[in-house]
Amino acid sequence: MKKAFFISFEGIDGAGKSTHLSTVCDYLQEKGHRVLKTREPGGTELAELLREKILHHDVEALTEVLLIFAARRDHLIKVIAPALQEGICVVSDRFTDATFAYQGYGRHFDLDILSQLENWTHAIAQAKDKPYQIQPDWVFWFDIAPELAAQRLAKARAADRFEAESVDFFDRVRSGYAARAQARPDQWVRIQADQTIAQVKADVMQAIQSYIA
Ligand code: TYD
Repeated sequence: MKKAFFISFEGIDGAGKSTHLSTVCDYLQEKGHRVLKTREPGGTELAELLREKILHHDVEALTEVLLIFAARRDHLIKVIAPALQEGICVVSDRFTDATFAYQGYGRHFDLDILSQLENWTHAIAQAKDKPYQIQPDWVFWFDIAPELAAQRLAKARAADRFEAESVDFFDRVRSGYAARAQARPDQWVRIQADQTIAQVKADVMQAIQSYIA
C-alpha cells in the first residue's frame, strides 16, 4: 500500500490557498494515490454545522476554541483517521495550525491550553499500543501581507467573523504562522502568495513534486 500523506493548507484569509488544493489532489492522484479533499472547520455533517456557527455566530474566545476542537475531533475520528488508515491521502484546507495562528496569536488565547486541547483532540486509540497523535506530514503555508489580502477580500463576498477582522489581527495571525513554520521547518513550505495564480500554482507543483520524490 502506498504511504498516505496528510497535507494541510494554511494562510490568512485572502491568501488564495483554496484555489490550489485541487492542484495537489490532482497531482497525488496522477501518482496513483487515493485522495480525500476536506476542510476545517468542517468535513463531517456535525463539523459543518459547527462551522456555520463558528464563522457567523458571535461567541467568546473559549467557546470558539471549544467549538473548533469539537468539530476537529469529529472530523479526525470519522474522516481523517479512517482515511489515513486505509491508505488514502488527506488534503485539508486548514487544520490545527490555524487554531494556534487565529485563536492563539490572533485572539491572544493561551497557547499552552491550545496545546493541551490539541493533545487530547489528536490522540487516536490503537488496538495494542498507546494512542498516537495525528499531525500533518506537510503544511503548505500561503504567505501574503495582510494589506494585500484585505484588498483581495474586499472584492470577494460578504465577510464572515474572521474576514471582518483588522489588519492588525491578521498581522498577528501571520506572525503565528511564521512561528509555527520556524518550529517545524522540515514539515512547512512557505508559498509566496502575492504572485499571479499561475506562478503560485507553479510553486505549489514544484513543492509537491519534490516532497513526493
Ligand atoms: P476559510 O478556510 O478561509 O474558508 P473560506 O475560504 O471558505 O472562507 O475559512 C475558515 C475561517 O475559519 C478562517 O477565517 C479561519 C477560521 N479558523 C479559525 O479561526 N481557527 C481554526 O482552527 C480554523 C480551522 C479556522
